[in-house]
Amino acid sequence: LGNQSVSGITSTLVLSVFTAVLGSLQCGYNIGVINAPQKIIEQNYNATWLARHNASIELSTLTTLWSLSVAIFSIGGMISSFLVGVVSEWKRAMIINNALAFLGGALMGLAKLGCSYEMMILGRFLIGAYSGLVSGLVPMYVGEISPTHLRGALGTLHQLALVIGILIAQVFGLDSLLGSPELWPLLLGLTVAPSALQLVLFPFCPESPRYLYIIRNKESKAKESLKRLTGCSDVSEALTEMKEEKRRMDMERKVSITQLFRCRIYRQPLLIAVVLQLSQQLSGINAIFYYSTSIFESAGLEQPVFATIGAGAINAAFTVVSLFLVERAGRRTLHLVGLAGMMVCAVVMTAALVYLDRVPAMSYISMVAIFGFVAFFEIGPGPIPWFIVAELFSQGPRPAAMAVAGGCNWTCNFIIGMAFQSMADACGPYVFLIFAALLLGFFLFTYFKVPETRGRTFDQIAAAFRRTPSLLDHEVKPSTELDLAKENTRSP
Ligand code: GLC
Repeated sequence: LGNQSVSGITSTLVLSVFTAVLGSLQCGYNIGVINAPQKIIEQNYNATWLARHNASIELSTLTTLWSLSVAIFSIGGMISSFLVGVVSEWKRAMIINNALAFLGGALMGLAKLGCSYEMMILGRFLIGAYSGLVSGLVPMYVGEISPTHLRGALGTLHQLALVIGILIAQVFGLDSLLGSPELWPLLLGLTVAPSALQLVLFPFCPESPRYLYIIRNKESKAKESLKRLTGCSDVSEALTEMKEEKRRMDMERKVSITQLFRCRIYRQPLLIAVVLQLSQQLSGINAIFYYSTSIFESAGLEQPVFATIGAGAINAAFTVVSLFLVERAGRRTLHLVGLAGMMVCAVVMTAALVYLDRVPAMSYISMVAIFGFVAFFEIGPGPIPWFIVAELFSQGPRPAAMAVAGGCNWTCNFIIGMAFQSMADACGPYVFLIFAALLLGFFLFTYFKVPETRGRTFDQIAAAFRRTPSLLDHEVKPSTELDLAKENTRSP
């Protein structure tokens, strides 16, 4: 087959995207892996405690150790996502990042042998740090190597691989598979496998041509990389677009996180990037993914573990739906539909839980509402925030913006992970109304402030934000094609 291009898709592009999103798969695997084997690992912590102190562990100490094992993952992500701002060679950074995955995987896999919950906690921290870098580097690399008309679809693959990772972890975690007292170390250690595969494949993937040309000024290397990615011998059009971006970059240079906050032209895209991350995490999705088993249990289902796996499967299926829709319907529309759908499902879920005592069938309604909540999440709020940040900024400020957006995302992830249980204790069945209210706020923000980026080059998007704020306000209003048409007539 060679490296022929079929509507912009070449084997080099496929290989590069596949290799990159192996990192996303691993990130998802570690989000999902900790749910099912909780009881078994807790027993192991207890045994360790007993051996060390000659007494059983107090319940409160066990809860603390367990919560720490779960939540330290997001702390790792929170810290490392800021490092994305200082990294510049995406591909090399992804290769080096695997060291964290190997170390984290080894610590978790050997924790039982070493009779040490400290090893487990440190391992979770390192794999969290790995995942924080992944969530910035992968969307950046994929966004930069993709042709404009496929940037959204390929960008969605980060989330698709992530949700497949969650699903694999949920299935492997069944006690009949790897979630058993003997095999759980393998379940956790298995995370090194995608890293190993990634290291084998990366030498065959080109570095981002935008990075090579715009940042490093290596025109011939950039051309080479473009030729491999596009399968065309004439890459002058893509090069011209990069030249235009570079001309501006020479005036703007690489932007630090503090400069990003200070400079007025970045204010609007930064606000959008941050609010979109908040809309993803504060939608309440991880309340489902971290606590689904107990939510399904309180909804009166007999086999909560299978309902959890059902949610994981729907999660993956609807990411595929989004993948096919994103270049047709656009990012803005899908995000709006997703937020609105989640809001309705949150209200239905609340009503079902409230009436559960009186009407037993409500347990099925609540299950359907939870599945709907997950499905609508993946239509827009799941995949879109990750890749749209890379679209909203040009080469100079992009890493800094990814760092800020990623940091916000992981921080909110941590907050929900820590706070949801107490929120649920305090509000009972009404807890999801809090998320419904937040979703309404995010819907309104998206409607009024978020522009459509589909089909526009990075340079066109940045140029739109560079104009006066009032002009931008017009540009972000509903019609997308119109904006692009305006854009084209304005360009010199
Ligand atoms: C997104 C979120 C992540 C969540 C996942 C669920 O990737 O960032 O926190 O667990 O979607 O599919």
